Amino acid sequence: MSKRSMIVELLQGISTDQEATVKGWVRTKRGNKNVAFLALNDGSTIHNLQIVVDLPSFSSDLISSITTGACIRATGRLVASQGKGQSVELQATDLEVYGTADPNTYPLQKKGHSLEFLREIAHLRPRTNTFGAIYRLRHHMAYAIHTFFHQKGFFYFNAPLITGSDCEGAGQMFQVTTLDLANCPKTEEGAVDYSRDFFARQTSLTVSGQLEAEMAALALGGVYTFGPTFRAENSNTPRHLAEFWMCEPEVAFNEIEDNMDLAEEFIKFCVRWALDHCIDDIKFLAEHFDKDLVERLESVLEKPFVRLTYTEGVEILEKAVADGHKFEFPIYWGADLASEHERYLVEQHFKTPVILTDYPKEIKSFYMKLNDDDKTVRGMDILFPKIGEIIGGSEREADYDKLRKRAQEMNVPEKDIWWYLESRKFGTCPHSGFGLGFERLLLFVSGMANIRDVIPFPRTPKSAEF
Ligand code: 4AD
Ligand code: MG
Repeated sequence: MSKRSMIVELLQGISTDQEATVKGWVRTKRGNKNVAFLALNDGSTIHNLQIVVDLPSFSSDLISSITTGACIRATGRLVASQGKGQSVELQATDLEVYGTADPNTYPLQKKGHSLEFLREIAHLRPRTNTFGAIYRLRHHMAYAIHTFFHQKGFFYFNAPLITGSDCEGAGQMFQVTTLDLANCPKTEEGAVDYSRDFFARQTSLTVSGQLEAEMAALALGGVYTFGPTFRAENSNTPRHLAEFWMCEPEVAFNEIEDNMDLAEEFIKFCVRWALDHCIDDIKFLAEHFDKDLVERLESVLEKPFVRLTYTEGVEILEKAVADGHKFEFPIYWGADLASEHERYLVEQHFKTPVILTDYPKEIKSFYMKLNDDDKTVRGMDILFPKIGEIIGGSEREADYDKLRKRAQEMNVPEKDIWWYLESRKFGTCPHSGFGLGFERLLLFVSGMANIRDVIPFPRTPKSAEF
């Protein structure tokens, strides 16, 4: 038996008239008394290889066990195809069934299942064209991230997932404990006695690897993290997950302008990469879910992103309201922008991605560098069409006293971040970084509308099946 070939390579049709073996899952079977045509997919590409089966040469039991969803091996001759829709096809000389899929119970019989239904069978949805395309895109975007930073001389740095500090200070952390919740040890004051817990202190899953990445940047120069992060925010929206992946670069000596330049170059690199490496999958997704997808991806590459301050952004939004535009949430200086506000700026007003800077200090995290006005901080958010916020970042407060004061004002306990503060005591320097929400990037490049459909097994409020 010849070695297994990948369908993606065979379909390039460079060397026909040769023996080949393919292994994969049957998408469809059609034909007549004499011949069957199997559409076989092995996951290497969105495209199927047509297997032509001369029925009289095979046992009818074998043929009838090959139904939609079955996993098979087909060996035969690869020839130029006579039929429409494919350049090459395999004329089977030998077939083997690895696993049948009972047509009465296999849920993916016909095409066109709703995305909601597919979420309920997340264990099988990788077998669909849609999720095959999305998971391949996910891989290529992860590879793009590593490629971009590696080429720039950054180092991939691993922040811990279990942590004792709340980076964003938003109190949205999942606790990690081995205490028996029904018989929790208590202190004399009646509080939970965490000294008896596994780590002898209270710990949680991280919301961000930034604080640790800063420690690395202040020694290695440029680093980036790329891993899962966790937020127990009760946001049941198409853009929030309780477990999502984030890429967080952090760079010594970068000020806020450098940070914006890096973020813009980075995200354009990723979008360019998707168009260059995943165009078949993108075209499939465009055809089925979002016909403007390719155009939208190309449009963000064309022009520099618009850069403006939060204050200027709010003025534009207030003027929109004065002109009769209705928002669900109120807009005023000091308000946290809702996704509808962000999307108004990007989609209606500027028609290009926007970088908003200099937010009121009250609505941003304690680590952001305070501006001289004492009211705003050097934070930046990158807002994208259809997505809203895709990147959040800032220049960091590098001054020990100012940082300590901001932590106190924002009620971040010093006992949790003493080590972080200490980095400003010894060899501090200006530095900046940002976090890209990986699934938000995937929403953008895939054209999908719901973040639950761009991560294999989504975790959201009241949902952690599979
Ligand atoms: O704006 P955020 O909260 O920033 C931070 O965590 C900083 N520590 C980043 C940094 O400066 N190193 O989150 C960063 C990005 C957001 O812009 C968004 O794309 C994504 O992470 N994000 C989420 N994605 C999915 N589900 C959620 N619940 C998300 N929360 C944030
Ligand atoms: Mg943010």
